[in-house]
Amino acid sequence: MNENVLNHPLITHKLAILRDVNTGTKEFRELVTEISTLLCYEATKDARLEEVEIETPLEKMKTGKLDEDNYAIVPILRAGMGMVEGIINVIPNAKVGHIGLYRNEETLEPVEYYYKMPEGIGNREALVIDPMLATGGSASATIDKLKEDGVKKIKLLCIVAAPIGIKIIEENHPDVEIFCATVDRELNENAYIVPGLGDAGDRIYGTK
Ligand code: PRP
Ligand code: URA
Repeated sequence: MNENVLNHPLITHKLAILRDVNTGTKEFRELVTEISTLLCYEATKDARLEEVEIETPLEKMKTGKLDEDNYAIVPILRAGMGMVEGIINVIPNAKVGHIGLYRNEETLEPVEYYYKMPEGIGNREALVIDPMLATGGSASATIDKLKEDGVKKIKLLCIVAAPIGIKIIEENHPDVEIFCATVDRELNENAYIVPGLGDAGDRIYGTK
């Protein structure tokens, strides 16, 4: 099992507001940012540190620093962009690669329209971010592309996941660890997560 679900009262509290149909765009964006920071905190718990020597006002000491340059954040457009700020709040030097995918509403298959990764992507650790893991098609296609580019360490960070989405990632990409704020009950007939939070992209950008 490669899934990590952030069971924490702070997350439950923030999700309760995020999910609420009466929550407006401003608050929705802020909560996506805050939850993304908490997901990143959890997803970097195994991060390698480089030993450094620093000097406090009292004495020298050896400690560790993160190789921030090692990270590539990969938001799946559009909704994934809403999570970028929350990650760069804590890894400010991470590079950002973009992949544009939308779900064909009839076939539910992901359709790619943009792909641009930072230089040397094959040697970086990729944090793929998307608020919603529904059928798993978009995340799985993104991971396929990154692997074609030689990326060896990939983590998937999402806010709401459906059990089937997790299953698909675990089957297609057993080497990829999943970090999600919550796992919801199921998908409805339109492959929306229920209870879910609706269309994440529309709620972040106020497009509906
Ligand atoms: C949503 C979401 C994921 C995808 C999840 O994006 O942000 O990318 O659907 O569904 P899946 O797991 O079944 O692939 P959408 O296609 O609505 O595009 P948008 O981000 O531009 O709104
Ligand atoms: N995409 C969304 O934005 N929401 C869902 O529930 C499923 C896919």
